[in-house]
Amino acid sequence: MISVTGRRFHLGGKQYSYVFEADAAGYLLHLYFGPRIADEDVSYLAAPSFLSFSPMPPDAVSADFSLDTAPQEYGSYGQGDFRRPAVLYRTKGGRASNFRYMGYEICDNAVPEVLPHVRGGRTLKIFLRDTRADVSVTLFYTVNEDSDVLVRHAEIAAGENITVERVFSFSLDLPAGEYDVLRLHGRHLAERIPCRTPLGYGLCRIGSERGASSHQMNPFLALMEKGAAEDYGNVYGFGLIYSGSFALEAERGQTDIRVQGGISDVGFSWELAAGEKFTAPQAMLAYSSAGMGGLSRVYADFLRAHILPPERVYAPRPIVINNWEATYFDFDTPALCRLIDEAAELGMDTFVLDDGWFGARSDDHRALGDWQVNTKKLAGGLGPLIEHCKKRGMKFGLWFEPEMISEDSDLFRAHPDWAVGVEPRCKSRDQYVLDFSRPEIVDFIYGRMADILGRHEISYVKWDMNRHLTEFCSQASSGREGEFAHRYMLGVYALAERLERNFPAVFFEGCSGGGGRFDAGMLYYFPQFWTSDDTDAFERAKIQWGTSYAYPMSAMSCHVSACPNHQTGRVTPLAARGHIASLGATGYELDLNKLSAEEKEAVKAQIRAYRATEDLILRGDLYRLLDPFEGNYFAEIAVSKDKTRAYLVGMTARAVPSDYNRRIRLKGLEENKRYHVRELGLTLHGSTLMHAGLLLPKQHDYETWAWHIEEA
Ligand code: GLA
Repeated sequence: MISVTGRRFHLGGKQYSYVFEADAAGYLLHLYFGPRIADEDVSYLAAPSFLSFSPMPPDAVSADFSLDTAPQEYGSYGQGDFRRPAVLYRTKGGRASNFRYMGYEICDNAVPEVLPHVRGGRTLKIFLRDTRADVSVTLFYTVNEDSDVLVRHAEIAAGENITVERVFSFSLDLPAGEYDVLRLHGRHLAERIPCRTPLGYGLCRIGSERGASSHQMNPFLALMEKGAAEDYGNVYGFGLIYSGSFALEAERGQTDIRVQGGISDVGFSWELAAGEKFTAPQAMLAYSSAGMGGLSRVYADFLRAHILPPERVYAPRPIVINNWEATYFDFDTPALCRLIDEAAELGMDTFVLDDGWFGARSDDHRALGDWQVNTKKLAGGLGPLIEHCKKRGMKFGLWFEPEMISEDSDLFRAHPDWAVGVEPRCKSRDQYVLDFSRPEIVDFIYGRMADILGRHEISYVKWDMNRHLTEFCSQASSGREGEFAHRYMLGVYALAERLERNFPAVFFEGCSGGGGRFDAGMLYYFPQFWTSDDTDAFERAKIQWGTSYAYPMSAMSCHVSACPNHQTGRVTPLAARGHIASLGATGYELDLNKLSAEEKEAVKAQIRAYRATEDLILRGDLYRLLDPFEGNYFAEIAVSKDKTRAYLVGMTARAVPSDYNRRIRLKGLEENKRYHVRELGLTLHGSTLMHAGLLLPKQHDYETWAWHIEEA
């Protein structure tokens, strides 16, 4: 809903209201964000009240008005608003800005074309003008009635030459109060660890300056009202549809809490000549009254309905066998054919050839950028392998790392200036980053990939990115380093967009050393993302738990791998690896030839079972039950939208002798429906399952259980 009354704007979705207005002087004031309220005058919420040391702007209509205390929709700089500004730029006259409302427009979804964006909706545009310089800002609010996510972004247009130093996608001033802030931090092999802390006074800023959204901090932040928990309480989410360096801030000050975010302003600056514009990426503001669990389901529904590729999102996913952990770089055509034979036998449908198939790539020190098939390793090229796949009824997929270049590569020898940064520059995994801020380089890489995709029957591409950016400058640019990181991202998006458009039959999976760029920007192009390089079932349970705070299960690519696990050395049962992987888009990544006959039968059964519950993963609602970060157990349940079916997976981290009669309470079912729990042979009401619960099975270390639940 977008309702306009005079200069008051009331936006809403399924559950929430978001209200702001332009006051008599034209200041755009934030009034309300939370559970739905009547569409009526709530301007009293922003009544000016005098505070010593709060300066009055020269044209304030009331002696009590100050930008220091007024709750705003997009903070300015230098005229009394001492919180961090949403936008900051340098003009001839300095940095001060002071915005006034100029009008509005409502249209069909107005999106930032060159960036990933929300699909569908109606957009309210608010036009602001700086009274001190020839600069305008347009705020975009995109509403979808079927969701509780409000999408915001901003555009700045210069009428004179300016240097933009910060331009956030959204900003709002929430009322003072006690909140906790929840963020998802991590590192390689341990992504998206939830961390909840009270929001104290001052600035809480999360972000990445790595040129990628990163393993270290996900572009997502939630504010939870004091007392809100997993299943109840008001919770607000702030996520970005962006994959580069970012910032999300919650600044608790004397009168309110400013929440804002967008492209990181560290190292950022953008020259706008008169007549030019800059568009900030979109942000997703979400609300739920049902705690973090509710917020996660709001995001999962929204991402599936409005961000992920629509033609892929709800379709059954390929069940891949990926050769990375099976062979690493050590393979040839006969070895891969043996893997393909086994995979076909066991019921997998897509073989993905990972790193090492091109140029002189015998290890990870060379050849990135040389996207020609290594025919010494793969006699006859990809053709025989693809033919072999087809004979076995399998599809073929291929790994690329399009954004990278090795020093030891033909590409680097031919174009040393194509690497990001000037000497001396950092290496990471012994590679440099290709300068994707230059369209001709993106074109070149597109050409190489299109050549391979065009000449072969390839139905799957894994797009990897295995280092972060340093030096942040193009060897071709003339002193506009501040623009580099974002221009790089525009190049990445342009390549993804072009590949998707021209190769619609190819299924694209994202990856960045595991889940290093697991964000809504990437998910716009890739229906699933490799969740982590850590495939240990216990670690994965935690990583998937954290990821589920902000992303749907179906976006998580999850593989069953070998034991002892290559990352942790841990041994977990094959059943546990299968169960945990079945909570996302399942695949396999191990040498199938080494499995015993019994294990092969188990894998076959896993695949059949996965296909039978896959619709719950693709379309269902996730409820988190037992938190592996807080206790000895992990459990999640996926429930169909009509609440007739559910699939629960749990894990016992450490066996606890004689710890009997522990209960697990189910969630998400309908109280009055009767359900049959197949594995237990019990038929009970939803109310019993959710309130009295079931007994946890007695298990050994890292054992899992799965319950299939159906309306009786
Ligand atoms: C990254 C990916 C892995 C694998 C390797 C190949 O680490 O996350 O899955 O593709 O690169 O080098």
